[in-house]
Amino acid sequence: LKPLVAPHIAALRPDDPGKPAAELVREPGMRGAVRLTSNENPLGPSPHVLSALAAAAADVHRYADNDVRALRERLAALHGVDGAEIAFGHGSNSLIELCARTFAGPSDHAIIGTPSFSCYAASLAAANVPTTAVALRDDLFWDLSAVLEAVRPETKLVFLDNPGNPTSTHIARAELQGFLRELEADVVVVVDEAYGDFADHESYASALGMRELRERLIVLRTFSKAYALAGLRVGYAVAPRAAVAHLRAMQVPFHVSGPAQAAALAALSDRAHLQRTLELIARERQRMTAALQQLGLSVAPSQTNFVLVALPASAEVVHAALFERGVIVQRPGPPLSRHLRISIGLPHENDRVLRELAEALARLAP
Ligand SMILES: Cc1ncc(COP(=O)(O)O)c(C=O)c1O
Repeated sequence: LKPLVAPHIAALRPDDPGKPAAELVREPGMRGAVRLTSNENPLGPSPHVLSALAAAAADVHRYADNDVRALRERLAALHGVDGAEIAFGHGSNSLIELCARTFAGPSDHAIIGTPSFSCYAASLAAANVPTTAVALRDDLFWDLSAVLEAVRPETKLVFLDNPGNPTSTHIARAELQGFLRELEADVVVVVDEAYGDFADHESYASALGMRELRERLIVLRTFSKAYALAGLRVGYAVAPRAAVAHLRAMQVPFHVSGPAQAAALAALSDRAHLQRTLELIARERQRMTAALQQLGLSVAPSQTNFVLVALPASAEVVHAALFERGVIVQRPGPPLSRHLRISIGLPHENDRVLRELAEALARLAP
């Protein structure tokens, strides 16, 4: 028999995002566990979303609007762009995967950061695109001059997460602007702003305001984080019309379900809920950072809804000690083998993380 799949497909492994909280708490000994692994919105969705979902449920025997018209119009108005400059995805994850397949191939080259969002490497590997992973700086900020140095004649695609995952850090406005100007015009830059809503540092700026600096710029946004719709899978790209047309041609039909479209519209209509979310995250992020520092740990300056903590011991050991006590956080893995990524939860959940982490570290201390 011929090999079942091409070698680059054979090398792929399934992503393991961990068991959902609902499943975990049913396991013996895990009742009441706190799961802060996936950077979800701890407040849950807006009540507007719940009503919109109930109304949309009556239509689930119909296919959704494949052009996503109502949501497209709303987002176009929100961002001051044309509707033809927006492409939708089944979560922004699917747009990352689509960008890799649409804009690059095996004879091209792509650049990502390490560490950065794992989906970039996976999508590029699935598309068989040779990829260079450029190390971030020691302080876990992007090194954009190293990215420029990694550019080759075949370079076609760059993925930047801003703010970053798992780093939580951001790229300053002037640095990003300089990079977008300097990079060869051929290269498609994808700036992934999944956590952009949480960024409040004075030097943070969305790349949506930098679209005049280069033609080939794609900005990704998601409803999974600040808008609390992770389970419904809605993300979008703001990109030049030609790029949007190609992305749409690559999409599977009906990629954003009717309930998901209705929920996203409803989430956009509840500005008060968004504000409550952003205030909670900003307040708890500051509190968590200070408390972790008081434990003697170093914490990356977060612009996201999670914190990245450097540990004095192996993350595997601390992660396991927390897990045993029903506190589940994320282990980012290499090159961050001494770090934990902790999503910001509700105040009582964050208190529990702090308490259990202090105890685990005390128990593990020599
Ligand atoms: C940086 C970054 N981009 C994109 C995503 C994907 O989000 P979604 O597919 O839910 O829109 C995530 C999810 O955690 C992320 O951390």
